[in-house]
Amino acid sequence: MWTIDLALSEADLALCTATLSAEERARMARYLRLEDRARFAASHAATRLILGRALGCDPRDLAFTAAPGGKPALAGASLAFNLSHSGRRALVGLSTEAPLGVDVESVRPLPDALRIALGHFAPDETAALARLDGPAREAAFFALWTRKEAVVKALGAGLALPLTRFSVSLPPGPPCLLRLDAGREHAMAGDPGTWSLHHLEPGPGTVGALAAAGSVKALARRALPPNWPAWLP
Ligand SMILES: CC(C)(COP(=O)(O)OP(=O)(O)OC[C@H]1O[C@@H](n2cnc3c(N)ncnc32)[C@H](O)[C@@H]1OP(=O)(O)O)[C@@H](O)C(=O)NCCC(=O)NCCS
Repeated sequence: MWTIDLALSEADLALCTATLSAEERARMARYLRLEDRARFAASHAATRLILGRALGCDPRDLAFTAAPGGKPALAGASLAFNLSHSGRRALVGLSTEAPLGVDVESVRPLPDALRIALGHFAPDETAALARLDGPAREAAFFALWTRKEAVVKALGAGLALPLTRFSVSLPPGPPCLLRLDAGREHAMAGDPGTWSLHHLEPGPGTVGALAAAGSVKALARRALPPNWPAWLP
């Protein structure tokens, strides 16, 4: 599990952009806001850097494919990965063992957390959230959100999987997948008891989660150093 600081100088962003494929540069150019283009360049260059080091190859030589739900995968390598970015923070998870999903969110005041939960989450999750209040409810909401998003991303399901079809635990209890009815379209989902869920705090004001459709025996946490673009080719 890698944490990446995306706040970079213009010179470093130019290095990042040079590492991207023509297709990635075209996607980046479609973002209207400068900050979105910068986040895209930095997070995708960091993903290439991390994957290139893991596989022992030049980050520029990596090729990606997309699964039917849109989940990016490495072409021609069995290493699973997933990227998430929010604000100045990104997470990249890698696994040789199981499909995985990661999510990071910037924690912010959310007075209508319960209303959002009622509209989207499973009844048992909403009931657990309703038993909390104040900052405890807000913290639990973001933990819940990132755990659910990480599960959706592990499955590669995107918006096609209704968020009421599965439930995750809330803090302060240990993170786990309590119930999963992913349907026949996600046959790899398996028994919820075989999943691993991890709570992450990748930096001040951020919360994250990693979900893997299988057991993760050891989770190694790493951070790219602040000058990481210097490692790009
Ligand atoms: C892509 C998606 C899965 C995650 O988006 P997000 O939370 O806005 O963004 P994140 O930063 O966490 O993840 C984006 C990255 O996930 C990867 N990704 C894209 N599609 C994916 C998919 N179907 N499955 C897993 N990962 C995916 C990409 O690397 C993408 O990066 P990019 O947009 O820069 O190319 C989102 O579109 C989605 O469908 N979410 C549905 C779940 C939902 O409604 N959650 C509400 C709260 S629980």
